[in-house]
Amino acid sequence: MSWIRERELSLVERLTANILKAGPMPKHVAFIMDGNRRYAQKTHVERQEGHSQGFEKLAETLRWCLNLGIHEVTVYAFSIENFKRSKEEVDGLMELARQKFSRLLTEQENLEKHGVCIRVLGDLTLLPEDLQQVIAKAVVSTRAHNKCFLNVCFAYTSRHEIANAVKEMAWGVEQGLIKSSDVSEVLLSECLYSSNSPNPDLLIRTSGEVRLSDFLLWQTSYSCLVFQSVLWPEYSFWNLCEAVLQYQLSHQSLQELPPSLHRYDHIFLT
Ligand code: FPP
Repeated sequence: MSWIRERELSLVERLTANILKAGPMPKHVAFIMDGNRRYAQKTHVERQEGHSQGFEKLAETLRWCLNLGIHEVTVYAFSIENFKRSKEEVDGLMELARQKFSRLLTEQENLEKHGVCIRVLGDLTLLPEDLQQVIAKAVVSTRAHNKCFLNVCFAYTSRHEIANAVKEMAWGVEQGLIKSSDVSEVLLSECLYSSNSPNPDLLIRTSGEVRLSDFLLWQTSYSCLVFQSVLWPEYSFWNLCEAVLQYQLSHQSLQELPPSLHRYDHIFLT
């Protein structure tokens, strides 16, 4: 299964997409892809198969996002907390990542056609060395593409990311590169792994859990949050449309926030 599923929308899906696109659309959507293991249990398949189907759903969701004109997607693929799972499951997820990032290297034509730039955000030093190398090659191979962006959060938690940014600023002060008075919210944002991206407009979590689980805590302060009960491998085009509709319904009230609360949007949105 490749990173972007090649399948055209049906007539009714296209019609719905066009109706939605007449309203305000999120430019950047983040997903907490939750529920792979519950799906595996429900459908009596191995846990690893649940994660593989989770990847397939990601490829399908990316296609829908492109069809809807959503050009940036960020996904929570592996949390630092996930290292606490059984060795068998962690090894399985590392192997899945190894396969998919290696596969990415063979799919250059398709990724170039869509102009997809893939970034991996997280503390990659926590990963096995061979996986770090495959990821580095994959990221470099799509670096010049700029039509749409997929940010894969891997070995990531938001508090780790923020702590890392604080350490970077402290190092800068220590080395005399910046003054302590230069430390600010804007500088901290620039030291985050996500510094090249605008903040997500919409964050979607599947599987019915209503929490952020240490994902993009800084970046989603003013995002529209949508929690859906569907398990991630069962996610459908219609679930995505429903989430976008919820974004559109809340868009008016988000626009009414005082300008000071939009300051990061002003800095990052072009
Ligand atoms: C959460 O469901 C999902 C994960 C911990 C892994 C998500 C990974 C993928 C969808 C594959 C992505 C792979 C690449 C290479 C980008 P869970 O396991 O916590 O399930 P549960 O909530 O039912 O226990």
